[in-house]
Amino acid sequence: MPVDLKNVLDDIARLHQEAKDNINRADSLQTLQQLKIDYLAKKGKVTVLFAKIGQVDPKDRPTLGEHLNRLKTEITDALQQRSDELATAQMAISDFDPSLPGRKPSVGGLNPLLQVMDEIKSIFIGMGFRIEEGPEIETEYNNFVALNMPEYHPARDMQDTFYLPNKYLLRTHTSPVQIRTMESQKPPVRMIAPGRCFRKDTPDATHSPTFHQVEGLCVDKNVSFADLKGVVQAFATKLFGNQVKVRFRPSFFPFTEPSAEYDFSCVFCNQKGCRFCKNTGWLEISGAGMVDPAVFGFVGYDPEVYTGYAFGLGVERVALLKYQIDDIRTLYENDLRYLEQF
Ligand code: DAH
Repeated sequence: MPVDLKNVLDDIARLHQEAKDNINRADSLQTLQQLKIDYLAKKGKVTVLFAKIGQVDPKDRPTLGEHLNRLKTEITDALQQRSDELATAQMAISDFDPSLPGRKPSVGGLNPLLQVMDEIKSIFIGMGFRIEEGPEIETEYNNFVALNMPEYHPARDMQDTFYLPNKYLLRTHTSPVQIRTMESQKPPVRMIAPGRCFRKDTPDATHSPTFHQVEGLCVDKNVSFADLKGVVQAFATKLFGNQVKVRFRPSFFPFTEPSAEYDFSCVFCNQKGCRFCKNTGWLEISGAGMVDPAVFGFVGYDPEVYTGYAFGLGVERVALLKYQIDDIRTLYENDLRYLEQF
């Protein structure tokens, strides 16, 4: 006894209505997924109805097949449509809430190192110095030879150098800009050269394979060590205030004679002793001295007529003191939480 077509068509109509109601009521993509399983999966309510095709009168089979296929398509479409609606609604919720306050865009700022560089530059510009620049890739000649450090000179060992092919290197200090400037200009010269330098140093709290210096050079008739002391003291005062003292200690650099290292009195403890000055009351800044006549020989200045002083400055060192930072790595790490403090 075949199954009556009309009964199956009634089942189909009921199922269609039920599925439509459930789908329209679904309020999440998970619910829709479950409905898809309930109706269309292998044992789903629609799928099992297909078995009835074999049970109705053979002449009714095409009609039933047609109805079943239409039912399946319509449920598939309804699922898809509802799923689109839900996705759009959800996107609207997460992407745009007009009641939320606006987000403040973060504005970039200068790294503290660059701020210190700018401050150093403007102090020296105020004292009549010009800014000169040189390349970070230098010749061995400018970086060493013309600064009175021929090959095998022991002072080269202090500056562990990144050598490049063909007698090029990454400059180990800004002193080669002295050479470039004197080679291209006649005296008098009054210049500073800010820039990046490189040495094979393992990074730690006070070392970095790349760091910054400001070189200073003044050449004219009758320039003396007293002028050097005056300029360094004026610089220290402008940078740290009236109370800061400067002292020079005898030292050695191949390109200056006599040579000195200079210190600032500790700006943190007023020389009472603290961890920044390692309880000495003094902070080492860099080296300086009177230009060695041999250097004048390399650049073609007459040492009988001209004298000059030169000095170096470690920019990281100044930044540490200025901002009371105790690890130079923080200057390079680009951690916004840290940089935003400046
Ligand atoms: N170039 C030296 C260095 O990096 C620093 C220095 C010392 C520069 C004495 C000078 C100077 O101009 O006169 O260690």
